[in-house]
Amino acid sequence: MCEKLPIPDQFIQELKSRIAIEDVISDYVTLKKRGRSYMGLCPFHNEKTPSFSVSPENGFFHCFGCGAGGDTITFIRRIENLDYVEAVKFLAGRVGMTVPEDGRDDGTGRLKTRIYEANREAARFYHKQLYSPAGQQALDYLRKRGLTEKTIIHFGLGYSPTSRFELVNYLKSKGFSGSEIISANLANQSKNGYAFDRFSDRVMFPIIDLRGNVIAFGGRIMTDIKPKYLNTSDTLVFNKSRNLFALQFAKNKANGQLILVEGYMDVIALHQAGFENAVATLGTALTNEQALLIKRYCDEVVICYDADEAGQKATKRAMGIFRPTGLNVKVLTVPNGKDPDEFIKSYGEQGSARFRMLLEKSGSDIEYEIGKLRAEFNIEIDSQRIEFLNRAAVIISEIENPVERDFYITKLSEELNVGKMAFSELIKDNFKKKKSKFKSEEQRRAANQLSAVYDRLNTEKRFKLRAALAEEALIAVMISNPDVAVKTAATISPDLFRTGFNRRIYEILCERVRNGKEIGIDDISGDFSVDEMGRITDMVASRPRENDPMTAVGEYADVLKNEKERLTPQQIEQSDPEDLNEYIKKLGKMKD
Ligand code: UTP
Ligand code: MN
Repeated sequence: MCEKLPIPDQFIQELKSRIAIEDVISDYVTLKKRGRSYMGLCPFHNEKTPSFSVSPENGFFHCFGCGAGGDTITFIRRIENLDYVEAVKFLAGRVGMTVPEDGRDDGTGRLKTRIYEANREAARFYHKQLYSPAGQQALDYLRKRGLTEKTIIHFGLGYSPTSRFELVNYLKSKGFSGSEIISANLANQSKNGYAFDRFSDRVMFPIIDLRGNVIAFGGRIMTDIKPKYLNTSDTLVFNKSRNLFALQFAKNKANGQLILVEGYMDVIALHQAGFENAVATLGTALTNEQALLIKRYCDEVVICYDADEAGQKATKRAMGIFRPTGLNVKVLTVPNGKDPDEFIKSYGEQGSARFRMLLEKSGSDIEYEIGKLRAEFNIEIDSQRIEFLNRAAVIISEIENPVERDFYITKLSEELNVGKMAFSELIKDNFKKKKSKFKSEEQRRAANQLSAVYDRLNTEKRFKLRAALAEEALIAVMISNPDVAVKTAATISPDLFRTGFNRRIYEILCERVRNGKEIGIDDISGDFSVDEMGRITDMVASRPRENDPMTAVGEYADVLKNEKERLTPQQIEQSDPEDLNEYIKKLGKMKD
C-alpha cells in the first residue's frame, strides 16, 4: 500500500533537522508569534484576518479557513507548485545539502526533468534561428517594433522556422524522444503518430518560472493570420493560471509595486523603458492564484490593461479578484485607446517619462470605479446626481477600511455639495445589508462544518458521517500519540473503517508503525498528496489532545463497531447549521 519513497528516509530526517518550519514559511508569510505557535495570513486563500497557523512544536502548518495543512515539504509543494521530490530538492538547496541521485525517481519526476531540458534546448534553438538567414524577417520585425538588441537577448526571444520538422529533428539529435517532445507540447502528434513542430514561422517568447526554468512559449505570427498568439498548452511543468510572464525579473524590481498588463509586448516595452516591475498573464484572464502570487512580491498592483472595451471589462474583473487579497489596487488608463506598448513607442525618446507621469497619476480602484460611474450621469441634473450618489454609495460601502471609506465620503460629498452625514447614512445602510449574511461567528463555523461534510476527498463522509468522524478522531489520536499508535495498529483492523479514504490513511499509518517508522505529520508527507496532507493535518489540528488517548481509541473503535445511527444525505442537506454543529460536537465527544 505504502508508496515507495524515492529519497532515503535518513536524508529526509537530516534535512528536517536542519530546517525550521517557521523560517521556511516566513519567507512567504509574515508570521506573528502567538503562544507556542505563529499566526499569519494564509497564502493559499484570500483573507484579511489570520487563520493560518504554524506550530514549530508539531512541525506543521494549518489553515482554519481553507483547510490547507501539512509539514514543511507539503508547504513548499503547494506554494512553489512542485512535486515531492522537487520540494525536497528545493529545501535541500536552501541548507546546502544534495539529494542522493541514486534515489529512485518515479516516472513523472523524470519526465518533468526531461521537459525542462527540452524547453531549454528549444529556447536556445529558437534564439539561434532568429540570428540565422531564416530568422532575418523575424529579427527585422522585432527591431521595427522598437526592441533593442539588449532587450531581445534579455528576454531570450527567438524564431520558430516554417518547416514543421526542424525543432523536432534538432531535439531528437540531442537525445529527446518524440513522446518527450510531445509531452513538452513543443510538438503535436500527427495521425500517423509522428511528432511535428507546434510552432511554425512565429516570433517566440519563452516563459520562465521563478527558478529560471523555461516552462512554456508564446509565439506571435507576423501576419494577420489567426491566432495571433499561440501558447504552450498546460503540461506537467506548466500551468498557465499559476504563472506570470516576466515575474522572474519583476519580482526583484518590484520595490512594493507590480504593474499588470495584458500582453507580452507590453511587458517587454515597459521593461525596456525602465519599468521592470511589469508582468502579464499568459493568454488567459487573471486568476485567484495569480493574484496571490502577485501579492507575494508587492503591496500594490497597478492594473494597466488596454483602453478598449474588453480591456475595461477585464479591469473591473481583475479589481474584484485583487480587492479581497488586501493589495493596494490602482488603475492606470492609457489615453487614446492605445496599449502601453503603443503609448510608449508613440512618444519616442519621451516614452518612459510620459508613462511615468501616467503611473504617478493613476488612481485607486475606487476612484476608477467612481470615475467611470460618474461619466454615466449628468450631475448637473438633480435626479441624476441623486442616482449617481446612490450608486456611488454601493461602491464605497465595499471598502472595509473605515479611514479609506471616510476619505471618499468626504471627497464626494464636498465635490457634489451634499451633506456628509446624510451620505454616510446611505453608505451605512448598504454596509448593513451586506453584513447580515451570517448571524454569528458560531453560525459561520457551523456552515464551514456543513461544507466539511461534503468532503471532496472523502466523498463517502456525507453518507457515513458518524463513522467518518470517529475514524478521523482515531487517526488524529494515533498521530498525536506515537506510544498508543503501536498498540492501535496491532489491535484495530482497517476493516472497521467505513470510508475508503480514511481506511487508506489508517492502513498507511499502520504499515509505517509496523516498519518502525514515525508517523508525525512531518514524517508522513511523502506518502500523501498535498490535499490529503491538508485533510490529515486538519484532523489533528482541529481536535484537542486527549487526556487518556488509549481509552479514547477504544471508544472510537466501539463507535465504529456499533456504527448504526447515521444521517441520511437528505437529513444533512435539510439540517439547520446549528443543529448540525450540535450533532458534530456530540459525535466528537462520543457521549451519546
Ligand atoms: P493583444 O491582442 O492585446 O496583443 O493580446 P499584444 O500583446 O498587444 O501584442 P501585439 O502588440 O499585437 O503584438 C494580449 C495578450 O493576450 C494573449 C497574449 O498573451 C497576448 O500578449 N493572446 C492574444 C493570446 O494568447 N492569443 C491570441 O490570439 C491573442
Ligand atoms: Mn500590442
